[in-house]
Amino acid sequence: MSRTILRGRVLSFHRAPQGIDDVESYLYLEDGAVSIEDGLVVAVGDFAEAETAGAVIIDHRPHLIMPGFIDLHLHYVQSNIMAAYAGSLLEWLNTYTFIEEQKFSQQGHADAVAVDFYDALIRHGTTTAVAYCSSHPRSVDAFFAEAQRRNMLMVGGKVMMDRNAPEGLLDTAQSGYDDTKALIARWHGRGRGLYAISPRFAITSTPEQMEAAQALVAEHPECYVQTHLSENDAEITYSMELYPDAKDYTGIYEDYGLLGRKTLLGHSIHLSHRETTVLAETGSVAVFCPTSNLFLGSGLFDCERLMSNGVRVGVATDIGGGTSVSMLRTLDEGYKVLQLKGQRLNPLASFHMATRGNAEALGLEETIGSIAPGRAADLIVLDSGATPTMRLRKSTLGSLAEELFLLQTLGDDRAIAEVYVAGARAKSTLGGL
Ligand code: GUN
Ligand code: ZN
Repeated sequence: MSRTILRGRVLSFHRAPQGIDDVESYLYLEDGAVSIEDGLVVAVGDFAEAETAGAVIIDHRPHLIMPGFIDLHLHYVQSNIMAAYAGSLLEWLNTYTFIEEQKFSQQGHADAVAVDFYDALIRHGTTTAVAYCSSHPRSVDAFFAEAQRRNMLMVGGKVMMDRNAPEGLLDTAQSGYDDTKALIARWHGRGRGLYAISPRFAITSTPEQMEAAQALVAEHPECYVQTHLSENDAEITYSMELYPDAKDYTGIYEDYGLLGRKTLLGHSIHLSHRETTVLAETGSVAVFCPTSNLFLGSGLFDCERLMSNGVRVGVATDIGGGTSVSMLRTLDEGYKVLQLKGQRLNPLASFHMATRGNAEALGLEETIGSIAPGRAADLIVLDSGATPTMRLRKSTLGSLAEELFLLQTLGDDRAIAEVYVAGARAKSTLGGL
């Protein structure tokens, strides 16, 4: 059995840091060794104490070895429409998104975009993502087949949408149910794939389809649920017109039994106190999508209010409403959004959120998101001097927190020197790939 040891500085979080000085919340090794066997981390500790006999040693010093990033919300079928010029959410959906997603009725198109999408994820150091596919089952097949080919842990599902979109995207309550059922049987638990039941949002699902989603959730508690919540004022108004009996937007999903610890709610920006309480009580996850929320002018996520009320929070790119595949760029924009709210997202907290925090949001903290024996060897190697501008700031750094802040403020895919997926090298700047 071959063993590989990655040598370098190592950073992995045990829990959410309570402040910038919370050194107990993470493991940091100045000269560390991460031992990998059969795709798993088998040991982590000081290099001087590592069992090196018979191991292949890859030296990543002076770079920083971390768990791969986890992106909690994106649309792989929107990979080709990032940076589309539109005023706000509903115009953007109608003008670009619903046009683009219709192309995924073609298997060849879906297969080709899936390859480009995974290449982009790896280039940016994201080793797990939770994705919306289009309404076409073949888009889901392309998504999971390519994930399996690359041995990546990916979560995704077919969007269920039976109204308020072009004919070429619409399913029906029954076909959405049947197709989802078949896709769960085909892909959930196959390789590292996990399924997310995905009613797109209240506007594009009839009450009959919501009932079908409710049945799926009841029949498949092993699956995730993902949808969009309270992203934009016009969206909220229209949703309440379509569901006049609901208490509020959150109440629509609540009424159909769609909330719970496996439910990921993209955006969750404009929430009342009641809605916040319902999210907290059900354990649903509010997903912060900063680049998208800024790009579409949707609003400023109130991280502090949600967290202080006990809501579980994660962070995501929301490609293609989002403007970067990079979780570093996403953390940077998240920091700026919270600055505008008078809130601070310290760099330890943001890197925790993009790794272990998002793993906890998925209930997968025993599998991904940290570096410890038994965890998947889904790892990235970060170079905080990747560009001339970064090198200038690097020369004045005083602490690990400052280095992380430099990485998130000035970094992008160029700062991702290496990526390992289940112990295999997927991106390398050392050559050989
Ligand atoms: N709400 C419903 N669908 C979408 C989508 O594709 N992107 C975003 N940002 N919001 C949505
Ligand atoms: Zn989205």
